[in-house]
Amino acid sequence: MAGINCIGILTSGGDAPGMNAAIRAVTRSAIFGGFKVKGIYRGYRGLVTGEIVEFKTQNVSNIIQMGGTILKTARCKEFQTPEGRQLAYETLKKEGIDALVVIGGDGSLTGARIFASEYNFPIVGLPGTIDNDLFGTDKTIGYDTALNTIMECVDKIRDTATSHERLFFIEVMGRDAGFLALNGAIATGAEAAIIPEISTEVDQLAELIQNGFRKSKNSSIVLVAESPVTGGAMTLAERVKNEYPQYDVRVTILGHLQRGGSPTATDRILASRMGAAAVDALLEDQRNVMIGIRNDEIVYVPFSKAIKNDKPINRELLNTLRRLSI
Ligand code: F6P
Repeated sequence: MAGINCIGILTSGGDAPGMNAAIRAVTRSAIFGGFKVKGIYRGYRGLVTGEIVEFKTQNVSNIIQMGGTILKTARCKEFQTPEGRQLAYETLKKEGIDALVVIGGDGSLTGARIFASEYNFPIVGLPGTIDNDLFGTDKTIGYDTALNTIMECVDKIRDTATSHERLFFIEVMGRDAGFLALNGAIATGAEAAIIPEISTEVDQLAELIQNGFRKSKNSSIVLVAESPVTGGAMTLAERVKNEYPQYDVRVTILGHLQRGGSPTATDRILASRMGAAAVDALLEDQRNVMIGIRNDEIVYVPFSKAIKNDKPINRELLNTLRRLSI
């Protein structure tokens, strides 16, 4: 690993459960390998403003079970400008940081990619987002926990929906990706999932719900991915209410509670493996790659692929949901 003595870590963009486990894994594997580690606070903003602290093994003690990120996170406008990135580079030089591990989603890895190419700086990314929307990895850190949170919430809503014989539209996160909505729907036995990748007409949806009620279903639950394409749960519910006034419709927006909480075992293990793999990647002179996991094996995905390509929705999941919701 040519000339790397000190590795900097930062978390950026929306937080995700398991980010702390990843910070711990990078820190401990790097120290195990004989490197110095520095924690950069508030994402790229910390690089611009120089909020940086040296991390020893004890700085990451007792955090594997914690949600959020001890390094804090931010979306930094300044880093999007050449002047901001110049300041970031100067900070890295001043701090003696020779390589970076960036934990975040699409936007964060886009920033990493631009910076790495402008300054020829070694960066390895870890996919940290509840949305699971990065190409080249089966799972992102935080997705499993968010899915389990959704499952718990929807199960509770099902109780009241059944008692009142109501139709619920529940909005889940996912920005432009339907993974949380689709798999959340399968896990909770929901009647349908409205996702940006697939267009669903209100009529189609109403027919499905109507059939369900006819077959003496006591309630119906539709998971809606938050996205300008779906219009969100409120808009959809309004349309269904207007066109089918016979339904007693309610809306729940799960919102940011999906981003919090103690990570599941799956996310802790994923984050630990990926964090260790990030240090391995730097040891192998890899740069500008995101660590991914495919078929339970660690893979290196070039930033250009991870960011640019849309991760496709598995059609088999859609069919399963349709078949099981009759
Ligand atoms: O990227 C994760 C995500 O949770 C998206 O699903 C959502 O659209 C977005 O973050 C909301 O983020 P914030 O409220 O922090 O801007």
